[in-house]
Amino acid sequence: MTYDPFHPVHRPRRLRSTPGVRRLVAETRLHPADLVLPVFVAEGATDPRPIASLPGVVQHSPSSLRDAVQEASELGVGAVMIFGVPLSKDPTGSGALDPDGILAQSVRWCLDASPELPVIADLCLDEFTDHGHCGVLDGRGRVDNDATLLQYAAMARTLADAGAAVLGASGMMDGQIGAVRAALDEVGHTDTALLAYAAKYASAFYGPFREAVQSSLQGDRLTYQQDPANARESVREVALDVAEGADIVMVKPALSYLDVVARTRAAVDIPVAAYVVSGEFAMIELAAAAGAFDRRRAIEEALVSVRRAGADIIATYWASEVAGWLRAR
Ligand code: PBG
Repeated sequence: MTYDPFHPVHRPRRLRSTPGVRRLVAETRLHPADLVLPVFVAEGATDPRPIASLPGVVQHSPSSLRDAVQEASELGVGAVMIFGVPLSKDPTGSGALDPDGILAQSVRWCLDASPELPVIADLCLDEFTDHGHCGVLDGRGRVDNDATLLQYAAMARTLADAGAAVLGASGMMDGQIGAVRAALDEVGHTDTALLAYAAKYASAFYGPFREAVQSSLQGDRLTYQQDPANARESVREVALDVAEGADIVMVKPALSYLDVVARTRAAVDIPVAAYVVSGEFAMIELAAAAGAFDRRRAIEEALVSVRRAGADIIATYWASEVAGWLRAR
């Protein structure tokens, strides 16, 4: 038989012909357990406070935190990731080291609400410093890498003591994973896992987060977070964190950095996470609210793209809502 170009032999459309077949051959799926819910907890809050630039996201009070954590747990979400918003800040971010500070307290509140749900505590000083940087400053006002490592080491012990299963090292100081690992091991916290924000870019998409944590940042983070122009640099950052003992590596933001997610996936055999950050969330929420597209489809497409690029774990403010959709399906 001669080949008839008007009757093709190869028909990829066959596998798209019904919902059941499409479902059967889907290469990538979202699952509640792969989703991590970031939460903000404000010291002194008696009611949840809306965050204007993050529609639907709040600064929690202890009781609204409890409800959110129980809901996430019941929906099968993989973990919660906590950011603390303290009432007072100082140059060294000492509130971050305080066993009774808002972050350590919040870890305990989460565990009270849902003992089985892993708690990831943010290991960074920026919410606690009055200048808003992720580390302490030297005499000339520059972020002092090695002095910051000592603060992270102490903060890590505070958070591990409070019961956090995982610490999210998000400060982008050189050597932070090695320093924190050693500090934890020295006091017997050998089972506290480290989620390294290995490839974290200096991104405009963190804009709404700064409102969420009432950041007091002056200036920018260009001397420690990565230049969006660079991808090979991320491979190096990831390799260093793996060598220093990272248990999970994360890429952040996610949607503008899917190539970095894919490269990271190819480079390591430990779990890879990606963080769909506040500005990425806001873009979709605001466009959907303006009628530009179907909100739910856009959210699912965005999250599946992150999985397809190679992330095992996705941190997203939509975690509980999407877990609910998946359960109802
Ligand atoms: C800093 C931190 C930031 C985010 C998480 N941790 C902001 C920054 O680096 O300026 C951003 C998260 C988001 O935008 O959703 N520790």
